[in-house]
Amino acid sequence: MKQIVVTGTALILIILFSACLHKPAASDDRQVLDSLTALVGQLRPGLGEYMMQIKYHHDELGKAIARRDYERAGYENDEIREQTDKIQQLHITNDKLKEPFVVFFQKYLQAPLSQIGEAALRKDDRALQSNYTALTSNCNSCHQQNNMAFMKID
Ligand code: HEC
Repeated sequence: MKQIVVTGTALILIILFSACLHKPAASDDRQVLDSLTALVGQLRPGLGEYMMQIKYHHDELGKAIARRDYERAGYENDEIREQTDKIQQLHITNDKLKEPFVVFFQKYLQAPLSQIGEAALRKDDRALQSNYTALTSNCNSCHQQNNMAFMKID
């Protein structure tokens, strides 16, 4: 009988001890997860960084259209699209944006980008030129609407 009580107590102690051991491990996991989440947040490029890339491809697109380089125009147009996709997938935003990026994308960028893509395939100079003008003007409309009126793209 005495033996059973001793063994029982020892068992309970072992269970309690391992439960105690387990707890700090779980909170360590949470700490690691929290610091990794914070790190990902710090490494994630801001909206301005994506905009710089978009500006580069926007300007190269304009030059390609001017010299009637349709393949390059199609490429630069796709690159702009890739950057805007990333902004949406990673939910990039900042305090200047009044609504989620996707709302402005649909309003200002979706139509001219898809028109330019198709016009580049058709080698349609007029459509390329008019949609590029629309694209640039829409960059500026979005800037005006989101506290960036001074950021004029030409
Ligand atoms: C969602 C609306 C929106 C659209 C559409 C948009 N922009 Fe922007 N843009 C912004 C905002 C907001 C900022 C300010 C980012 C910041 O605070 O760093 C910005 C900043 C910029 C900057 C300055 C980046 C820097 O860090 O110095 C450039 C260049 C730029 N945009 C180019 C463009 C071009 C080119 C287009 C069109 C192809 C365009 N943007 C379309 C909202 C937009």
